[in-house]
Amino acid sequence: MSDTLRYCDKVVIVTGGSQGIGKGIVRSFVENGAKVVFCAIGSDAGRSLEAELNGQGPGECLFTACDVTKEEEIQELVSTTVRRFGQIDCLVNNAGWHPPHKPIDDITADDFRYLLNLNLVSYFLAAKYALPHLRRSQGNVINLSSLVGTIGQKDAVSYVATKGAITAMTKAMAIDESRYKVRVNCISPGNVMTPLWGALAAQSGDMATTIKAGENAQLIGRMGTEAECGLAAVFLAADATFCTGVDLLLSGGAELNYGHKSQIG
Ligand SMILES: NC(=O)c1ccc[n+]([C@@H]2O[C@H](COP(=O)([O-])OP(=O)(O)OC[C@H]3O[C@@H](n4cnc5c(N)ncnc54)[C@H](O)[C@@H]3O)[C@@H](O)[C@H]2O)c1
Repeated sequence: MSDTLRYCDKVVIVTGGSQGIGKGIVRSFVENGAKVVFCAIGSDAGRSLEAELNGQGPGECLFTACDVTKEEEIQELVSTTVRRFGQIDCLVNNAGWHPPHKPIDDITADDFRYLLNLNLVSYFLAAKYALPHLRRSQGNVINLSSLVGTIGQKDAVSYVATKGAITAMTKAMAIDESRYKVRVNCISPGNVMTPLWGALAAQSGDMATTIKAGENAQLIGRMGTEAECGLAAVFLAADATFCTGVDLLLSGGAELNYGHKSQIG
């Protein structure tokens, strides 16, 4: 059976694994035989996913509450993983947030600093504390960036800045860690229907139209799924052994072609 499992007995950390893209990633790794430690804000959804996936196997998972805005909680997440499973083969930095769309006039410096800490500094810190273990296992890091880090997005200056920085940091870290045979890659999703996407659509005032526009933004004519994000992460960890510093666009072709882009009139 282990012949068909692509990440059997490997140890993976996923931040923000209780819902959305992180949940799809936790599920895919467990389905491929990995031992996954995942965290989130709050515990109910995480505990229930932990019970569901441990009932299914063939891998296993452990939920632990950790707020990635707190450095000491990230350190504890890494040490809990090593205490429980003895090693780390892959770190998936995924926990993040997209604030409601606003022009720069309505974004304060403190809003921006908070988002940089949540979306960017947390990825840096989780990598910093996991890397000594990843160097021993010659493992890999996967950072969830975003397509908008490359193409921009309306009324999302602070979010786009954090995602562009994640893509750039991925490349810098890939260079530095290559001497230890650690690969560092990122995934840039376009629109993926998750609780976060749903919440942003609800704030738009016309949820159905916003969701339809979100679907039509892709050449493929639909949003991506949590399961497709999971498959992309397992691909980078298990199969893409000649890829480092890549930005895997998981976007259904959203960045291609002209569209109605003018904001004037
Ligand atoms: N959904 C999309 O269309 C989309 C597109 C591009 C990039 N992304 C990125 O993918 C990642 C996941 O997005 P999603 O749509 O699944 O979001 P989501 O809000 O549905 O899920 C986010 C997860 O992160 C956790 N989390 C949030 N803040 C945390 C904190 N301080 N500490 C620990 N955990 C925390 C939540 O508990 C949850 O498990 C984010 O980095 C997001 O920027 C999403």
